[in-house]
Amino acid sequence: MRVFIKTYGCQMNERDSEALAGMLSKAGYEIVADEEQADVLLFNTCSVREQAERKAIGKIGYMKKLKQKKPDLVIGALGCMAQRLGNELFQELPHLDFVLGTGQLHTLVPLLESIRADRRQVADLRESAAVLNEMGSHFRPTGAPDAWHGQIAITRGCNRFCSYCIVPYVRGREVSREMNDVLEEARELVASGVREIMLLGQNVAAYGLGGNINPPPPGVSPFAELLEELDRIPELLRVRFTSPYVTYFNDRLIAAMAASRCCCHNVHLPLQSGSDRILRAMNRQYTAESYWEKVCELRAAIPDLTFSTDVIVGFPGESDEDFEWTRELLNRVGFDNAFIFKYSPRPGAKSAALEDSVPQHVKEERNQILLDDLHSRVARLLQGQVGTLQEVLVEGVSPRNPARWCGRTGTNRVVHFEPVPGIEPGTLRKIRIERAGNVSLSGSVQG
Ligand code: 5AD
Ligand code: SF4
Repeated sequence: MRVFIKTYGCQMNERDSEALAGMLSKAGYEIVADEEQADVLLFNTCSVREQAERKAIGKIGYMKKLKQKKPDLVIGALGCMAQRLGNELFQELPHLDFVLGTGQLHTLVPLLESIRADRRQVADLRESAAVLNEMGSHFRPTGAPDAWHGQIAITRGCNRFCSYCIVPYVRGREVSREMNDVLEEARELVASGVREIMLLGQNVAAYGLGGNINPPPPGVSPFAELLEELDRIPELLRVRFTSPYVTYFNDRLIAAMAASRCCCHNVHLPLQSGSDRILRAMNRQYTAESYWEKVCELRAAIPDLTFSTDVIVGFPGESDEDFEWTRELLNRVGFDNAFIFKYSPRPGAKSAALEDSVPQHVKEERNQILLDDLHSRVARLLQGQVGTLQEVLVEGVSPRNPARWCGRTGTNRVVHFEPVPGIEPGTLRKIRIERAGNVSLSGSVQG
């Protein structure tokens, strides 16, 4: 049986798909990259913006033709949109065989067996505690170009209820995995050749806090303890994580990051808006000033720390002045990267009750202004790196130029270089930075 998996949305979905691929391949299924070759088509969907849902529905709709040619084809919608729309999807997509929600992903293999034995449409949207611990499989085909990189989900769900966000409704309450399970998964990945681990969660910094404390008390951070434990795995060279909610960055966590051997000096710290009025309407539990103070505290402890962020433009009621506050704070922090999203009302989330008052063309203008600021700032920041010596984790042949190799600094900057004899992906090398482009650096290997 051959299975094709298409994933929409965030890294958490990518990780879920990888775990599903791991489970399927262990059960004897073959994972294929071409939908025409497959006996089972899986669409792991996203609900975070309307566009993501439209894309997945369009794609699944288009698969009807394939099913007419191959009536035995099994088609499933999984994940966030599957959870949100449930049985409604069968009306829109009558050729769909099953809908599997976020709480039941771990039951995919037996579900496929039962559908093959008895063809009928099935929707399973039940919550389940088991999904937390049963999505630890990995899919690591031999010779994969990114064999040095692995991802581990340490929490599932979210308790923050930002007013625009559908995630708490489709992924449920925040739950954390046991530290020993996470460490065991990390050790297994490292034994299979992984050298960099990305820790994933809707709010990773809330890891192990039991769900309802914001902010955590001073001195308390189970996430910091996890980073310290990961530091003790000798062959693990790097740890990254995404995303922490700013108020969870307490003294304990900052100190652990600063002291860590392998925690990278880059933080993705979602800001969403630089206007206190809008932050309040978004139910974000910080002000622009307290966000800025946290950035300063982090920089004082880790001077070369770089930041990236998420921003929403065009939230209901966002005025020119609100937008200017956001723009100013983005420039003041000097983010290395920013994911800018145009507000999209999500039925079910609180802000959907507000009028989507900012016209589309204004959202687009604001989006473009922030992107232009970002591009010129990044070019300037990269220029400032010329002449420095950087430790780079070698990734392999550059996807853009097969004559060159590439890697990444701990601060998450891409570096291109001439390969030297014996160089291997997944190793650390010192590289002297000689030139800066608009989005990446280049230099030569020093040792
Ligand atoms: N509209 C636009 N962007 C959104 N995000 C979450 N919900 C919405 C929405 N309704 C963005 C936030 C979040 C990122 C993953 O997606 O910036 O951090
Ligand atoms: Fe959504 Fe806010 Fe939770 Fe992030 S922290 S997943 S934006 S509710």
